[in-house]
Amino acid sequence: LISEISTPARPVLHFTPEKNWINDPNGMFFYQGEYHLFYQYNPYGEKWGHMSWGHAVSKDLISWEHLPVALEEEDKVMIFSGSAVVDYQNTSGFGTGNEPPIVAIYTAYDAKSGFQSQSIAYSNDKGRTFKKYNQNPVIDLKKADFRDPKVFWYQADKKWIMTVSLSQEKKVQFYSSKDLKKWDLMSEFGPAGVTAGIWECPDLFQLDYNNESVWVLGVNLGTHSIAGGSGLQYFLGDFDGKAFKVNPSLTKEPLNFIEYGKDFYAAVVWEGTPDQTKERKWLGWMNNWEYADKVPYYGWRGSMSVPRTLRLQKQDGYFYLKQEPVKEIDNYKKKSVEKNAIGIQDANALFSGFIKSDSLSFSTSFVISPSEIHDFLKFNIKGKGSSVINFTYDKAANELVLVRAKSSKNVDSKQYPTIQRVKLDKSDREFEVRIIVDKYSMEVFTHDGKYVFTNLFFAPSNDINVSFEASKKDQKLVFKSIGLYTYL
Ligand code: FRU
Repeated sequence: LISEISTPARPVLHFTPEKNWINDPNGMFFYQGEYHLFYQYNPYGEKWGHMSWGHAVSKDLISWEHLPVALEEEDKVMIFSGSAVVDYQNTSGFGTGNEPPIVAIYTAYDAKSGFQSQSIAYSNDKGRTFKKYNQNPVIDLKKADFRDPKVFWYQADKKWIMTVSLSQEKKVQFYSSKDLKKWDLMSEFGPAGVTAGIWECPDLFQLDYNNESVWVLGVNLGTHSIAGGSGLQYFLGDFDGKAFKVNPSLTKEPLNFIEYGKDFYAAVVWEGTPDQTKERKWLGWMNNWEYADKVPYYGWRGSMSVPRTLRLQKQDGYFYLKQEPVKEIDNYKKKSVEKNAIGIQDANALFSGFIKSDSLSFSTSFVISPSEIHDFLKFNIKGKGSSVINFTYDKAANELVLVRAKSSKNVDSKQYPTIQRVKLDKSDREFEVRIIVDKYSMEVFTHDGKYVFTNLFFAPSNDINVSFEASKKDQKLVFKSIGLYTYL
C-alpha cells in the first residue's frame, strides 16, 4: 500500500474530493448558474468500495464547493454511475412546490444478488438532497452487467431517452419514458468499433457544425482503448428518436478516439448547459483502471481532468470531435509572460525563472512550424535529472509522441509507463501546443483540440526541471510565440 502521509498542495484546476477514493463523474447537470458534479465515491476509504455519489457544485467548473454525499450505499446496494436531469415539466410528479424536481438515474448494484438494475432518486431542493424512489428499480433485466444510464430530454417526441450499456455484451440500449419511471426499450446498438473490452458509461447527444447536425454516441472502454486500458471511443451518426445508426461517411477513420493519453475515462457531458448543440461541457475521471488503486494517496485518491468544451469540427469533408480547456481557467492565472520570436535557450531561461518545484501548476502555449524543425522539439519535465514525462513533435516520423517514464513514486504497475503516438497528416502546418500541468497531471492539447493527451505523472517534490530540448541542428529554433502562465 502506497500512502503519502504529508498532504501536498492540491491541484488548482482539477477537481479532487476532500478525502478518500473517487472514480467516474456522475449526474452532471447545469441549473440556475450552477454546475453540479456528482462522482463515484467511497465515503469510508481510499480504495474502491461502498460506492455512493459524492457531490460538489461550481459556478465556473474550477472552484468547487463540496456538499454532503448525495446518494449512499444502503443494505449492500451500491450506487453506481448514472446521470441527473432537471424535470422542468414535472413529468415524474416528484415536484412539490415551484422548484422543478431534479431526478437522478443511477445503477443500483446489489452485492447480494450480483445484479445491476436502473433506479431513480429525486430532489426537491435544487439537487441538495435526494430521496430514493420507493418503487425502485425502474428497469431490471436480472443481469450482472447492465449499467450507467445517461438520460436526456428529447424535445421532438417530448420524451426522456436513456442510453445504458450491456457491458459484457458490448451493446448500448436505448429506452424511452414519459415520466422517468416507466421505461420502454426502443433499440440496441453494438457490438461495434472496439469490442475487446467491456463497454461502460455510454452517452448520446447532438452537436452542430454550422448548419449540419450530427449525433454522437460515446462509449467508454474498460480496457483495450487506444493508449491501453481505459479510454473512450465515439461514433458519429443519426438518431431518429428511436435508434442510433452510424454514418460511416461522416468520419475519416473507422475507429474514433478523442483522447490519446492514458488518463481520461468515464467522460460524459453536462446536461442543460447553454447552447448545448453548439458545444458541450465535460470532463473525465483522470485515471485508468489498470492502476487506479496504485496511484499515490494524498489524503484523497483520484481526480477529474480539467473541464473541457467539446465541439464538432469538419476538415476535408470529415467530422471529428475536438476539445479545449474551458475558458474559465484563464481567470485563475497568477503570473503571465508572453513573448514573440523567442529562441529555445531564452524560452528555457523563462521557464526556469518562472516555475518552481512547489508551484507546479502552470500552462504554456507555443506555436510550432514543422517546416522550421530539422529533427524534433521536446517539452520535458524531469525529476532529479531523468525524464518523468515528455511531449515531442518528431519531424522525421511526422508524429506527436508522449512518453511517460516508470514512476519514481512507484506506481506499481507494468501498464503505467507509456508511449503514445499520433501520426499527423502530411498536410499538417504550423500548430499551437497548449500544455496544462497541475501537480500530478499533464494535459496536452494540439491542432486546435483535435489531439489531446491526458496523463497523470508523479515527480519527486524537489529538483524538478521543465525545459525544451532539441537536437544540435535545432538549437537555433525560434518559437513564433510562447505564453507561460502560473496558477499558484
Ligand atoms: C466505470 C465503472 C462504471 C460503474 C462504476 C462503478 O469506471 O466501472 O461502469 O458504474 O465504475 O464504480
